[in-house]
Amino acid sequence: MCGIVGYCGDKLASEVLLSGLKRLEYRGYDSSGISVNSGNKLSIIKKTGKIKNLRDAVPENLPGHFGIGHTRWATHGGVTDINAHPHSDSSEKIAVVHNGIIENYTGLKEKLLREGYVFKSETDSEVLAHLISKFYEGDLESAVKSALSLVKGTYGIIVMHADKDNELIGARNGSPLVLGIGDDEMFLASDVSAILAYTKQVVYFEDGEVVKVTSKGFTTSDLKNNRVSKDMENISWELEEMEKGKFSTYMEKEIHEQVESIPRAMKGRINEDLATAVLGGLNMTGRELLDVERVKIIAAGTSYYAGQVASYIIESLARIPSSAELASEFRYRNPVVEKNTLYFAISQSGETIDTLFALREIKRKGGRVLGICNVVGSTIPRESDGGVYIHSGPEISVASTKAFTSQITALYLFAIHMARMRDMSQSSGAAFLKDLNIIPEAITDILNRKAELQKIAEKYAHYPNFLFLGRGINCPVAMEGALKLKEVSYIHAEGYSAAEIKHGPIALINEKTPSMFLVPDDHMREKIVSNMKEVKARNGKVLAIAVKGDKEVEDIADEVFYVSKTHENLYPYLMVVPLQLFSYFCAMELHRDVDQPRNLAKSVTVE
Ligand code: F6R
Repeated sequence: MCGIVGYCGDKLASEVLLSGLKRLEYRGYDSSGISVNSGNKLSIIKKTGKIKNLRDAVPENLPGHFGIGHTRWATHGGVTDINAHPHSDSSEKIAVVHNGIIENYTGLKEKLLREGYVFKSETDSEVLAHLISKFYEGDLESAVKSALSLVKGTYGIIVMHADKDNELIGARNGSPLVLGIGDDEMFLASDVSAILAYTKQVVYFEDGEVVKVTSKGFTTSDLKNNRVSKDMENISWELEEMEKGKFSTYMEKEIHEQVESIPRAMKGRINEDLATAVLGGLNMTGRELLDVERVKIIAAGTSYYAGQVASYIIESLARIPSSAELASEFRYRNPVVEKNTLYFAISQSGETIDTLFALREIKRKGGRVLGICNVVGSTIPRESDGGVYIHSGPEISVASTKAFTSQITALYLFAIHMARMRDMSQSSGAAFLKDLNIIPEAITDILNRKAELQKIAEKYAHYPNFLFLGRGINCPVAMEGALKLKEVSYIHAEGYSAAEIKHGPIALINEKTPSMFLVPDDHMREKIVSNMKEVKARNGKVLAIAVKGDKEVEDIADEVFYVSKTHENLYPYLMVVPLQLFSYFCAMELHRDVDQPRNLAKSVTVE
């Protein structure tokens, strides 16, 4: 979603801001803008479309050494230059960039209009610029605090004033904000990718905190003016990890990276002697873990499907009742938080607002929540009682791929740990871990044969509708496959339990609606094969991901892609990678913007 960046130092602010905004592109946006000080006045430039449009509009060597920038993902008001940020007050001395939503903006705006303030845009964010101006009497920080004390909603903001040379004010509530510390220069941003090219030393802020930044230092306080001391942290990501390297898109790169990211999620977490996993970050004693009677996983989108896969595995290996639930629904239904239930919040970005608010609801009711996240220092892991970082490295493509397989890896390790504490034998644990260890090899084999999937995708990319069908642990994988196809290719796709099609979706089957079946050689195989025959009998095209040697599938299906044999609980890895590649190749065939599909944002920080 929206991204914000701020700079003060010796460099040309416009250059730093534009390069930061470029790095934030992956979050998804439809317009962008910057404001820099040029003497005692602000130069504010805003453009719809790609950052290139903004760069073309910014004069070369635009003077100014402090400034703010924004990529906007429209919520209130259409996609226009005027609605893009930064927003300024009537004097054009104060400029604001804002992530989040000001929920009470209508009331605030009506009051400001009655007081004579003139609005230029249709956004909720412009209210902030006028409110700050209303309270400004020479002290920008206190004007920002006075304005924020009237605001309801979520925000990550950066504010500047033309007369306040070399000063930025940042504040957060529900939207991320990080400070980057350089040599006599400072950066503010909504995520570290915007500033990684300049510094790896960062400070993360909490909700309710306000930071005053100059090129030489910063002070943090809360809205009631209490000083807050902050710790500095180091970012472990390397800049090269954020480049496409030899690949033409981030999505393709990230699909390929799974061969390394899955072992990274396991690194240092396996005890081979005891045939178990070691997860220190859970912050729970063995006795506390033994008391767990139920596991509930809360997440959104792809992370939710990873949660569904994980709930099968936890139940199957550890014999603990387990289920996954959509964070957006969970938080609003006054959930019953049980004493011996352990909650997991899964989120690649660590910032998804639905998941974050569900986590807060569980904690408010006294529950224990563990985070499974990728972005180190993001809000969900910081607010969790413990958890596991998946260490996938930056996931830049809007469509999530490598995070999915690392999320399930982290929870497979949790399942093994719990299972070995309960009734799984050492030899069964060792056998499972052995099979898990060779998954990357099996994925390499899939990647080496990706041309086969490309051929299938080229043949089917022009079909308007698809069904993705699986059973058991691969049922959520089918749903993830459908989600991936819709996101990147805009082809309508539905993911279902293959058993469910008879209860409705089979009505869609005709020669124009292909079905993608997931056919592992597990205890559900025979049933899936029957479902394939049912589709075939209705003139439906059948595509299948099956296990090498399964000739019967070849006889039924119009197209088959084969994967290696593995433990029946590990097929989600080998089923999902071909589906990711299939979606990718369909999108390429249709000339879609694979890494930044329309209307989507990488980190969904609004409801
Ligand atoms: C799908 C996708 C989204 C995210 C969802 C949750 O490819 O990327 O469905 O999975 O928005 O995001 P995180 O995992 O960051 O909480």
